[in-house]
Amino acid sequence: MAFNLWRRLRRFFCTPCGMLNFVYVLATSSVLLLMHLMYINNNLKSLVPIVKTVNTDIKRVLYFQTSNLATKAPTHSINIVKTDWISAQNRTLVSKRPDVCDSCFPHHYTYILDNEEICSVGADKRDVKVIVLISTTHVNTARRKALRETWLTHTRSNTGDVRYAFLLGATSNNADQVALETESATYRDIIQEDFVDSYNNLTLKTMMAFKWASLKCKVAKFFMKTDDDMFVNLNSLKDAVTKYSSVLEKGIGGYCNLSREPIRSKTEKWSVTYEMYPNKLYPPYCSGTGYVTSMDVVEKVYKVSKDVPFIYLEDVYVSLCLNRLGLNATHLPGFHAALQKIGCEYQSKKLVTSHRLTPKMLHEAWNLKNCSKKA
Ligand SMILES: *[C@@H]1O[C@H](CO)[C@@H](O)[C@H](O)[C@H]1NC(C)=O
Ligand SMILES: *[C@@H]1O[C@H](CO)[C@@H](O)[C@H](O)[C@H]1NC(C)=O
Ligand SMILES: *[C@@H]1O[C@H](CO)[C@@H](O)[C@H](O)[C@H]1NC(C)=O
Ligand SMILES: *[C@@H]1O[C@H](CO)[C@@H](O)[C@H](O)[C@H]1NC(C)=O
Ligand SMILES: *[C@@H]1O[C@H](CO)[C@@H](O)[C@H](O)[C@H]1NC(C)=O
Repeated sequence: MAFNLWRRLRRFFCTPCGMLNFVYVLATSSVLLLMHLMYINNNLKSLVPIVKTVNTDIKRVLYFQTSNLATKAPTHSINIVKTDWISAQNRTLVSKRPDVCDSCFPHHYTYILDNEEICSVGADKRDVKVIVLISTTHVNTARRKALRETWLTHTRSNTGDVRYAFLLGATSNNADQVALETESATYRDIIQEDFVDSYNNLTLKTMMAFKWASLKCKVAKFFMKTDDDMFVNLNSLKDAVTKYSSVLEKGIGGYCNLSREPIRSKTEKWSVTYEMYPNKLYPPYCSGTGYVTSMDVVEKVYKVSKDVPFIYLEDVYVSLCLNRLGLNATHLPGFHAALQKIGCEYQSKKLVTSHRLTPKMLHEAWNLKNCSKKA
């Protein structure tokens, strides 16, 4: 009886192949199924290469290329140490993490410093074309000084057609806070809220920028978010927002990537666990080093952000908001997330942003001599 069933099964599945192949097909399909289940349930990354190997093998068996099995199948090594089991508790987190929520992330912080007049117009002040909001932190005093002495001079101390402000959270260091308040009284270019200023709270800082611009700088036509280690050629920036204004009505522009994968390796910076973000790709996204958009989009992102759950990567967070709104990200020429070689390009229309400049390098780039105007 059992033998009969065995023979029938054999005939049913693969009459022309040998018993060994049949057993192999059966065994590998069970392993494959098991592994797929484990992978789905546990996000066990190391299994992916094995599943791939088995997939290749099983195809070979099915196409009767058994002689190649052992020799040509790609070999993958499995690093058990790096294997990324997610505990039962965390697995619940994975399945519970929603793409959207109902008011789980309201930006309800209070201003400590709010220089409301930054975007005021009239008298000797020009209309505001772009508001540039710069992420910084208390101890980066030298960087803020270098920015004010170089490319921010273009704003004519916040009276020109480009206005700017530095973004900070709260510090428990009293001396730092006193110094910041003195700085704010002198330059009137600081915005500070009462969340703790930390790397993990950069998303709060960025949302502070979107909120502040939406409510206190409505007169601006465009918005830029950037960092305190950036060089921004404001002439190039004004050209870019004019040229790409229609794109910026429907999303953000900058140094963007439409199919970026989350970094899963826990040893790397910007690593993101499956419980923080389970999908294979981020939505279209622009590097937080410098992106631009229209005020319309700024208001929409601010409004939707309360229903978009937190992620600590501030630029990814913005892309999740845009995705929710059905808005897009567009890579624009001249925006760079890496350091560009210091040279005449910095003073030309070819460059909008460059990253990782020290105060010394900022001065060097700003004071370049002998660059032809057309360069
Ligand atoms: C669960 O996730 C948290 C947050 O990512 C992490 O710190 C913790 O180690 C995880 N626990 C286990 C057992 O994997
Ligand atoms: C900000 O970050 C710090 C440390 O990373 C954390 O303790 C704090 O709860 C975070 N949130 C707020 C709203 O300050
Ligand atoms: C986008 O990011 C992925 C990594 O996630 C990378 O492989 C790809 O080259 C990037 N594309 C661009 C245009 O930079
Ligand atoms: C987003 O913009 C890119 C070009 O930057 C384009 O290829 C893509 O089709 C756009 N996607 C949507 C949904 O509009
Ligand atoms: C700029 O050009 C002038 C005259 O050609 C020259 O004397 C000067 O050294 C140059 N400066 C730099 C920084 O190259």
